[in-house]
Amino acid sequence: MSKSLSERLAAAPVVPLIGEDDAGRAVKTAEALAAGGLSVIEVVMRSPDAQKGMEAILAEATGDLIVGAGTVLTLDQAKSVRASGAQFIVSPELVDEIAEYCLAENIPFYPGTMTAGEVQRAYALGLREVKFFPASLAGGVPMLKAFSSVFREMRFMPTGGVSAANLAEFVALPSVLACGGSWLTPKEAVAIGDYSKITTLASEAVAIAAQAR
Ligand code: 3PG
Repeated sequence: MSKSLSERLAAAPVVPLIGEDDAGRAVKTAEALAAGGLSVIEVVMRSPDAQKGMEAILAEATGDLIVGAGTVLTLDQAKSVRASGAQFIVSPELVDEIAEYCLAENIPFYPGTMTAGEVQRAYALGLREVKFFPASLAGGVPMLKAFSSVFREMRFMPTGGVSAANLAEFVALPSVLACGGSWLTPKEAVAIGDYSKITTLASEAVAIAAQAR
């Protein structure tokens, strides 16, 4: 049986971001990540064809993936990516109506938070898992430690400025659900079709996280 989102993040707490307009390259990138051990993938909706790339991954990619949509800014967009098959939704900030929609639809939603007020608002809406964005600029590990001492039930997905260099310190925190980031899918590697580089970066991240936990 396919493992759930939470089981996969517990095993490999890293969510790579794909920002790729070309559907064929998006599929190959997703497969390269899965080959390296990362099977939970966020496709960011930052360009006109990004949703087609996500649809192609869902339809064609091998590797038993869980595929979500990131950079979802409006309720209409959330409904649209959901209709396309997105298995989770990520936003750069907390939009109440997207949160309410996702809770009603029972689809995991990770809104960006960077202040205690935002985390508390997410908590009040019923969310127990949020993105922490932009992680490095929002105070990094010390800020997450401060949040965790207050928001005991909340778990965080730090994203924005996370890389192989600081992944270990984030995933070592019990309150960190997973780290997100684009460092696993460098544009130069995708552009020249160097998918083995992406698999190597994914394997490296899996190893770093395993050692840190
Ligand atoms: C996001 O979409 O969450 C961030 O833009 C990713 O940030 P990164 O490029 O520093 O990983």
